[in-house]
Amino acid sequence: MAGNTISKNKAKLRIGVLYGGRSGEHDVSLCSAASVVAALDRNKYNVTAIGIDRDGRWYVQEKPEIVPDKDFGRKMALKKSGMWLVNHFEQKNKLHIYDIKNKNKEVVVDVVFPVIHGTFCEDGTLQGLLELAMVPYVGADVIGSAVGMDKDIAKRLLNQSGIPIVPSVTINKQSWQENANAKIIMKDALEKLGLPLFVKPVCAGSSVGVKKVKKEKMLANAMNFAFQFDTRVMIEKAVDCREIECAVLGNENPVASVLGEIIPRHEFYSYEAKYIDPNGAALKIPAEIGKPLADKIRKIAVEGYMALGCSSMARVDFFLDKKTNKFYLNEINTIPGFTSISMYPKLWAATGLKYSDLLDKLIALALDRHKKKLEIKTDK
Ligand SMILES: Nc1ncnc2c1ncn2[C@@H]1O[C@H](COP(=O)(O)OP(=O)(O)O)[C@@H](O)[C@H]1O
Ligand SMILES: [Mg+2]
Repeated sequence: MAGNTISKNKAKLRIGVLYGGRSGEHDVSLCSAASVVAALDRNKYNVTAIGIDRDGRWYVQEKPEIVPDKDFGRKMALKKSGMWLVNHFEQKNKLHIYDIKNKNKEVVVDVVFPVIHGTFCEDGTLQGLLELAMVPYVGADVIGSAVGMDKDIAKRLLNQSGIPIVPSVTINKQSWQENANAKIIMKDALEKLGLPLFVKPVCAGSSVGVKKVKKEKMLANAMNFAFQFDTRVMIEKAVDCREIECAVLGNENPVASVLGEIIPRHEFYSYEAKYIDPNGAALKIPAEIGKPLADKIRKIAVEGYMALGCSSMARVDFFLDKKTNKFYLNEINTIPGFTSISMYPKLWAATGLKYSDLLDKLIALALDRHKKKLEIKTDK
């Protein structure tokens, strides 16, 4: 009887879903978060939705509200009433959030579920704040997040682990802007990589700042465009490829899902193809790839995940050369799109893990990683 009473009264885990954020992917995040908030099992969790506006202010939503969205069907509303401040030193292992206008009003969460993409969210900065707060959270930790966001550092680590990557060079803004340097940089890149090329900001996402360069005379323009979004730009050999994605899940022993294919209906998987054109791309799950090759790609997906120090989850994206069937690991996304029609949850559904079970698993992984971090000695 006593046991029964305890389990009945057992406090539900308080999950704080973070969404919005100071990034170009703010709008996508509202849609991803709506699916997460709708699917979290209320028998197990109390859910608090915490919207972050484009200036980085946190707003605890009195009541999570899901509203219609023209592209994804639904999104989170982000009401800017009251302003809330994170206080991370109040009580260990919990995130305390206060109303700065009314210090007696506070919200406490046990696990943070960031469903926000891009700069200041997916790049280790938010994860640093959550580490300081000593609160469990979903998604890669500081290192995995930061490295996953930096295409240049990520490629160096992947290369070191023997994982195939597309040849590229990275240029910093200062050297690009120095007199006469740009011409030399472009000449060297063209000699080394040939045409066509892809030019992209090192730290960005959603194809923001990415251009395909087919003619030599377009290269300078693409470089200047990409430098608007970062201080480092990558020039990469273009691969005539199929785009293959794999979902990876886990901490110490991560597992890979079946593979999916993105079939863009534009010249490449551009921002327009991703978010503006409703018919911009088709998703094919599972990807039509023979089992031996698919298994190899899945294995490399896990190796790449480990090489970048990822944990919790990530979507690992590949280019598969249409002619040679050679594959390259393109990038790792540590907070992938999470709408119910997004690739990451759909890959798991196709592998036998349904959306709400995936959320349970991610929360369990967050608690497990946190527990292990607490066992680490921080003094002598
Ligand atoms: N080297 C390349 N060869 C062929 N296509 C590329 C290459 N680099 C980028 N692309 C195209 O541009 C898209 C966006 O580039 P990506 O490196 O994935 O940046 P993001 O982080 O913005 O998604 C890819 O999905 C692909 O369609
Ligand atoms: Mg990409």
